[in-house]
Order: sequence, then C-alpha cells, then structure tokens
Amino acid sequence: MKNTSSNSELSADSKYIWHPCTPSQDIESVAPLLIERASGVYLYDSDGKSYLDAISSWWVNLFGHNHPRLNAALQNQLQKMAHVMFAGVTHRPAIELAKKLVERTPENLSRVFFSDNGSTSIEVALKMSLQYWKQSSRGKKNHFVYLKGAYHGETLGALSACGIGLFRDKFEDVLAENIEVEGPDCSNCPYGLKRESCDAECFEAMEKVLSKQNSVIAGVLVEPLVQGAAGMKMYPPVYLQKLQNACKSEEVHLIFDEIAVGFGRTGSLFVCKAHGLQPDFLCLSKGITSGYLPLSVTVTSDEIFSAFYGKFEDLDWFVHSHSYTANPLACAVANETMNLFEEPQFFEKLDEKISALQQGSSILRELPYCGEYRQTGLIGAMELVKKDGAKFEFEERVGYQIYLEGLKQGIFMRPLGNVIYFMPPLSITMAEIEFMIETARNSILCALNK
Ligand SMILES: Cc1ncc(COP(=O)(O)O)c(C=O)c1O
Repeated sequence: MKNTSSNSELSADSKYIWHPCTPSQDIESVAPLLIERASGVYLYDSDGKSYLDAISSWWVNLFGHNHPRLNAALQNQLQKMAHVMFAGVTHRPAIELAKKLVERTPENLSRVFFSDNGSTSIEVALKMSLQYWKQSSRGKKNHFVYLKGAYHGETLGALSACGIGLFRDKFEDVLAENIEVEGPDCSNCPYGLKRESCDAECFEAMEKVLSKQNSVIAGVLVEPLVQGAAGMKMYPPVYLQKLQNACKSEEVHLIFDEIAVGFGRTGSLFVCKAHGLQPDFLCLSKGITSGYLPLSVTVTSDEIFSAFYGKFEDLDWFVHSHSYTANPLACAVANETMNLFEEPQFFEKLDEKISALQQGSSILRELPYCGEYRQTGLIGAMELVKKDGAKFEFEERVGYQIYLEGLKQGIFMRPLGNVIYFMPPLSITMAEIEFMIETARNSILCALNK
C-alpha cells in the first residue's frame, strides 16, 4: 500500500508527464516506481523498499549511486561554476577531461568534441564524417553503413543508422538513406561456427558492400562486441579487426559507438584500445559521468580535425554546437570517474566479478526457459524461450511480466523483448551478484510458471 503523499505524486505524474519508451497504457495499469533515493547498487522507493539496479539505470551508472567521491567532485565544482558556454570560452574540468580521454584512447585519437548525450555524439561523428568527405572533394560519400540490429540513438540522424524496426518503422519515410548490412548473428551462426573460435566468416556481407559501394560510403558505424538494444547480441573482436582493415582499404571512416560498452563494461576501459583498434571516431557517453549528469564526447583524429581548417567564408569549419556543451559540473564528475578507474587493481577485481557472473549464471542456464546465456565482460544476457524451446511472440511480453515480478522481489530489470540481461554498476559486490542472479531466476520462474 503506497503512502498518501506518494499516491498524490503518482497521480500528478500520470497527469503531467510523458515517460520515454513506455506505452502510456502501461502507466495506467502499473504506476512508475517513485524512487526517492539511491545508494550503491540499490534504488529505494518512497516506501523504503529497495531494488537492485541490475541495468545501471539504462547502462549509465558505473560506481554506484550516491558515491562519496563523485558527490564531492560535483559539490566542489558547484562552488566554482555550474555552467558557461563553450565557444570562445574554456575551463579546467573540460581541459583535464579531454587530456585524460586522449591519453586513454587509441593513439590516433587526439581531438575531443563535447556534446551532451549519446545520440548527439553520434550526430557529431556523422556530420564530421560527411563534411570531411565534402571538403576532401569526395562529396558523393554521403551514406553510412550500419549493422542489422544496430542502435545508435533516436534523433533522426542516428535513427537513420538504426537496424531495429521497433525504433525506426514509424519514421522510415523521413530517414536519411543509408545501407543496412547483415552483421554477426552468433546465436544462430549461418556458418555453424562458434563465437569463441570463428574467423568472422560472416564479414563477407560487409566486405561486399564496402568494396562495391565505397564511392558513396562515408563511414561504417558499429557497436563494438555487443549490440545492446538488439538484445545484447555479442560477437567476437575478429569481426572488428576485419572491419578496420576493410575500412582502411576502401577509404571509409570507421565509427565506434562505445556509448554502451565503453568505460569498463566489457572488462577493459575501451574496447578499441583493448583490441588494438584505431577507429576514426569514438563516441562515448553514458558511463562517462558514472550516471550523474548528461555528457558525451566524439573523439577523433588530427587528420579529421585538420580537414576543417579551410576558408572562413567557405564555412569549412565545423558549424555545430549545443548549449550545454562540456558542462563543467558534468566534466568534473567525469574526471573523478576516470580517477576511480585508476584505483589499485581495479580491473583485476572487475575480472573476478566477471567470473562470478559467469559461474553464478549456471542457475539460469539450467532453467527450461533458457535458450542461450551469453556474456561479455560484466554484461550477461539470457534469451528466453518456451519450455519446448519455441520462441515467445513479441506481443506475449514475457520480458515485461518478468520485470513486474522482479519489482515485487526487489530487482529492477528492463528486459529487451525476450532477453533478460544484467549490466550492473561495476562496483557491485560478489554477494550482490549472487543476489541479483538468484532474484532474477525467482522472478523468471514466478512469471513464467503461472
Ligand atoms: C550503443 C548506443 N548508442 C547510442 C545510444 C544513445 O544514447 P542516448 O540515449 O544518450 O541518446 C545508446 C543508448 O542506449 C546506445 O546504447
């Protein structure tokens, strides 16, 4: 039973607010959680009930909610300045952050362009790539290649490189014309190979498109290793190596969208750096402020940057800005986030958690509803199937039933269709990993055994 004040707040919510990516009729039958505070991996509602945040609040939180060092960094910056515009002005938090990022990303990446969410960092990369080709007298290179199942955000430019009908279908007629390519499908490999041992034979489809259409292709966008919104579809790094080689030989930009997988999620700070890859653009957001404030960056090379040195009157410079570009509060928290990665043995401890998730998930793998369990770093995903192995239909909304059951049991998940997944804060403890897996298992059984 909700207390009276939360009841009146929830009715005001339903009267005034339009929630993202939520069918309005869901809100009419199930009110949103009224979260009052959060600490570590837990969210607390207005009745004091706790929910383990198994998805890091849409994949943003890295070091837990209400972290003393991040709070202090924010408060410290707030004493000095909350915001200032970023054209004709600079500030220490942004300079420090840009330097830190350049030092920790691949060697070819040397310039940081700030914006304020994942989608805008993609828009920036797309526009820089297009303008680069235009100024290099290669103006016909104006299409982007993206993978089936790709997700790079929901503004119209980013949506034009989205390979998921759920997001793009209603807008198809106004989207920019790009090229969708069949990417890796390791759960149903058409070559009958295994993710761990294949040589990305499926790269063939991409290779053909790049070699035939390179004269009209500006760049290829890719979510390295894990296609998040597609249902945590995972594929091996060899695909990325082949992609980089092909992009180089066909003179096409390689755009890495590490918005979801960057900042430690896969077990290393950045996928590109860990695998010796050098994209032309690296888009980062989400974890950059450990889930505190909106911020993003598009990091690129000197080669791209120097192509924008043309004549003022020809508008050869990059005419693009956002009001909250490089917000100092966000940059200050991002700097402290970067410092937290430098704590002694951070990645060794993370490896232990990754193993604990892998081992603990055996209780999910043995469920009759488990079609496949897959894991990359601290991202674990389970494909739900019926007891006889058949697929659930989209409209059955089994993920949603499990989500509702999870709330009763004290875990906050947000399944992607029929995929239940974990993407907890990296600060999660071993005991919390165990609790998360067990509670998810109980929620699955309660929801599906009904
Ligand atoms: C891989 C990827 N790219 C881009 C985005 C868009 O980021 P934002 O929601 O901050 O616009 C997301 C968001 O989930 C994402 O997962």
